Amino acid sequence: MIALASDHAGFRLKEKTKALLDELHLEYEDFGPDGERPCDYPDYAYTAAKAVGSGRCDRGILACGTGIGVDMVANKVDGVRSALCTSLEMAELSRKHNDANVLSLGGRLLDWSLAEKIIRAWLSTSFEGGRHKVRVDKIHNLSGH
Ligand code: RB5
Repeated sequence: MIALASDHAGFRLKEKTKALLDELHLEYEDFGPDGERPCDYPDYAYTAAKAVGSGRCDRGILACGTGIGVDMVANKVDGVRSALCTSLEMAELSRKHNDANVLSLGGRLLDWSLAEKIIRAWLSTSFEGGRHKVRVDKIHNLSGH
């Protein structure tokens, strides 16, 4: 199950992502918003990220104008490792090396053809584990976390 959320600036990217996930026969839960009226990205990104952190959803895909805001919000949630990706290589490496469980995207920065490639790569690339697992585990054991 993939958690989806955006703000107004990421709404169209979220809707296109839903069509892609339908095509891939992957289930998703849409945490909103339901239109392009101006809204605040923390309200939606936090709810979706919590669904990933709690295990209710396996992964999440978030979008705002730049991807920066939703990424910042998602990374405040325990258990979430969000990666803001602007290239195919970042998407692949965020899975291989960081085991990213949330993908943050910028709806105003990416055209759909690149966003689609990023999402497909991110969904189909596996974590390499090994030395990268040691490092990822350390993320969740930082003092105060
Ligand atoms: C909204 O104008 C914009 O600030 C927001 O979508 C996002 O880019 C914030 O990081």
